[in-house]
Amino acid sequence: MAFPPSFIDELISRNPIEDVVGQYVNLKRSGGNMFGLCPFHGEKTASFSVAPDKGIYYCFGCHKGGGVINFMMEIEGLTYPDAVRSLAKRAGMQIPEDEQYQSRYRHQERLWALSKEAARFFNKQLYAPAGEQGLAYALRRGMPKSVLTTFGIGFAPNTWSALTDAMRQKGYTDQELIDAGLVSEKGGRIYDRFRNRLMFPIIDVRGYVIGFGGRVMDDSTPKYLNSPETLIFNKRKNLFALNLAKKTKLGYLILVEGYMDAVALHQYGFDCAVASLGTSLTEEHAALLSRYTDQVVLIYDGDEAGQRATRRAIPILEKAGLQVKVLRMKDAKDPDEFLKKFGADKFKILLEDASNRVEYQLNAIARKYDIREDEQRVRYIQECAQLISTLPSSVQREVYGNRIAETGGISFDAMKMEIAKAYKNRLRREKKVQEKKDLAPVQAVQPRSRTIHYEDVKSAMAEEGVIAQGLQDPSLLDLCGDLQPEDFSSELLGRVYKQIRNCQDMGVRVNLAVLEGFDLDEMSHIAGIVQRQSGPVNERAMKDYIATIRAESQKRTVHTEDDLLALRNKLKESKGYKG
Ligand code: UTP
Ligand code: MN
Repeated sequence: MAFPPSFIDELISRNPIEDVVGQYVNLKRSGGNMFGLCPFHGEKTASFSVAPDKGIYYCFGCHKGGGVINFMMEIEGLTYPDAVRSLAKRAGMQIPEDEQYQSRYRHQERLWALSKEAARFFNKQLYAPAGEQGLAYALRRGMPKSVLTTFGIGFAPNTWSALTDAMRQKGYTDQELIDAGLVSEKGGRIYDRFRNRLMFPIIDVRGYVIGFGGRVMDDSTPKYLNSPETLIFNKRKNLFALNLAKKTKLGYLILVEGYMDAVALHQYGFDCAVASLGTSLTEEHAALLSRYTDQVVLIYDGDEAGQRATRRAIPILEKAGLQVKVLRMKDAKDPDEFLKKFGADKFKILLEDASNRVEYQLNAIARKYDIREDEQRVRYIQECAQLISTLPSSVQREVYGNRIAETGGISFDAMKMEIAKAYKNRLRREKKVQEKKDLAPVQAVQPRSRTIHYEDVKSAMAEEGVIAQGLQDPSLLDLCGDLQPEDFSSELLGRVYKQIRNCQDMGVRVNLAVLEGFDLDEMSHIAGIVQRQSGPVNERAMKDYIATIRAESQKRTVHTEDDLLALRNKLKESKGYKG
């Protein structure tokens, strides 16, 4: 079912794109646009733009773009109606009801609400007689009440049905309790999954409680019991405490292994700490982190397993465009223990000399070669030189260059030359790539998407112009007169034109977000047209575009007639007709 345009119109104005996107991406204003790190591809420089006045987002790097609804679809993996539902909810709007929407999303909403109720319940228990031991344990571990509150930490009583009873009373069904991962099932009966544990709610970046980790208070196992994977909880895609850390002013994020480590770091002023949820780091985690920062400090436990996990995590983070520093724990098992033993100032010192990735990469190169063999030694030195040539500071290049010269058994001067050569080669390669780009203007105007292609580039450029201008100043659409969608050489652009003219005629605000029936690829392309538009928006330009479209359209019609004639003649010839 299509939503009424007036409803969509209101939805859009009540969900300003910069606010919605701002929940996921750190945006900085620059002129009329806002820029941030693209949440859809890993990058180090901000090429993701949001144009509040146009109501669109567009990434100049990966070319994804669209309106606020598309953004929700893309980032949350929602269908169009579900994205609309979620924005309506955000703005406190009533949805025009329809059976179809009693879908997955409805269920998901119930599970979110249930999980939040459960978190409230656990939190209350911590201060009730049933939670006496839990509170004592928390305080014994050095967590002040303020921290318990910030993290919403709670306690699961030592019974089989405390939570179940409380949630049933609030109207939740057994099936919902099962689906939220809060109970276990045996012989057709359900019982509380979490018992006699200190409870850490896991909250996603939008503030929804999606799961729990529960710690025992003695040495029994498992030490932590976590929520199972559910419709709303995916360990591979979420990080503990990111809901808090995303607001940090520190400019980097600290990634640790344990719940307690993240909590302690926040407690000691490092409000940028997050923890993976008892799984090894995934690409999804890295992409999630890269939405909020471009620098991650990795602090895994000092033991062999922790070091192995560190080596594994570095390339995953770097692939997402993150700069990685590694902090090695000294004289303590983990950050929690360190902070409680030595305090925040000592920790700061560790942070400051956290070794950067260069060291790790040089070590990785060293492992690839046997430098006792001359030939391998040469390749080792060359590869190191390549890496060192990418370092921005000359001091760094000198320090690392000297070290490699030493291990490789060559003079500092020879090493210096090798680095300079690597640098020049890279510049040359980059220049070539740029030249190739510059020399291919026609290709450049072709859409990036493989499914969209312009047959008549000249006309298509004018068609893009009409659409860009129309979306920015709808009154200019009145100049189009009897220009028909069929006059457009691009079927896609013709469809866009048709819809925005309809809006204008019906008196609905013309906005990219009201467009219907375009897939995400097509929406991205349309957003790109609007966002790349750089010429003046005025009558004169609009008239030029319209004239071009008309002229090209005429040419095409004539051509087609010629072609038909030629075809007929050919047919006649082949069949031996005359005249
Ligand atoms: P740790 O054993 O290092 O826990 O496991 P911790 O956070 O330092 O906890 P304390 O200080 O002993 O209380 C690191 C992380 O691995 C996951 C949890 O996410 C934990 O925080 N884990 C560990 C589990 O999921 N289950 C377990 O049984 C143990
Ligand atoms: Mn610990």
